[in-house]
Amino acid sequence: MKLNVNGSEREVDATDDMPLLWVLRDLMGLTGTKFGCGIAQCGACTVHVDGSPLRACVTPASAVAGKKITTIEGLSADGSHPVQKAWAELDVVQCGYCQSGQIMSAAALLAVVPAPTDSDIDHALSGNLCRCGTYQRIRAAVHRAAELGKA
Ligand code: FES
Repeated sequence: MKLNVNGSEREVDATDDMPLLWVLRDLMGLTGTKFGCGIAQCGACTVHVDGSPLRACVTPASAVAGKKITTIEGLSADGSHPVQKAWAELDVVQCGYCQSGQIMSAAALLAVVPAPTDSDIDHALSGNLCRCGTYQRIRAAVHRAAELGKA
């Protein structure tokens, strides 16, 4: 099947029911998107599909054929997306495992709510768990990304 990932059409030898996460990681080598729980409960596998956050671990690849899929690798070519810059500036990451999913959810939020409140952030990122408890820094970094996005 053909999938549009990070702006390129790619042909992959996947069965219709193969999870998108498997296709991205195992067939395309895009390992920035992580496998966490496998049942859409932790958010580590969050990617964008047509701009909206989606859990790649429970999404059959065939369901997103013809749509625009963006992974952490496609957020920017050089780490220049405001969310990536804010994350680096505030040193958000601890172990890092959950963070590509956190960043993808944050970027999707800011695309529709450019100046989110604490409650907008908590709501939008409530499905992204962090075992290291970096939630306070995540919230601060989303506010910082909103400022950087205005510049
Ligand atoms: S930084 Fe370790 S799980 Fe979030």
